[in-house]
Amino acid sequence: MRQPLYIYPTGMTENKFEFTYIVYDGIEELPADKQLLLQEARKVTEYAYAPYSNFHVGAVAKLANGQIVRGTNQENASFPVGLCAERVLLATISSLYPDTAIEAIAVSYNSELIKSDHPISPCGVCRQSIQEVEGRNNQPIRMLLSGMEGAVFEINSASNLLPLAFTGGEMK
Ligand code: THU
Repeated sequence: MRQPLYIYPTGMTENKFEFTYIVYDGIEELPADKQLLLQEARKVTEYAYAPYSNFHVGAVAKLANGQIVRGTNQENASFPVGLCAERVLLATISSLYPDTAIEAIAVSYNSELIKSDHPISPCGVCRQSIQEVEGRNNQPIRMLLSGMEGAVFEINSASNLLPLAFTGGEMK
């Protein structure tokens, strides 16, 4: 039987998790296809429904079949009911194009209250959700993260953002 993670039969070891990601100074340093995806993410922030936080998030995916799919955050007067842009995007993709791998997701945000000049990173729940899709399609999802201007982070696989993740494999 598989041992749970917290049993170390060979004695105590110190383990390290690290990953490499690229930081661009601005969108103009990206190759054309990635620029396009990030531009779309910036544009689609307009369609967010975020009257409570005023934090308008856009997430845009490029699929293996070439389709571009867009998602935005959708809030609710009952705050916990709201959905992040990333999970709206993933649910839309799974409904429109089931079993189609996602090559990349670009995320941006806009707000009347604060400056959008640095990247944001998906929340914990969205990391878990993106990681599920990577596992489902057995393909890494590249993440492009940026505000409306300024630096861009490029992360090769969304799973890098969720070390020691709980996955469906645990239940087999
Ligand atoms: N939000 C997203 O849509 N994606 C993120 O990566 C971070 C947060 C949304 C949730 C909520 O509607 C608003 O931003 C403020 O948290």
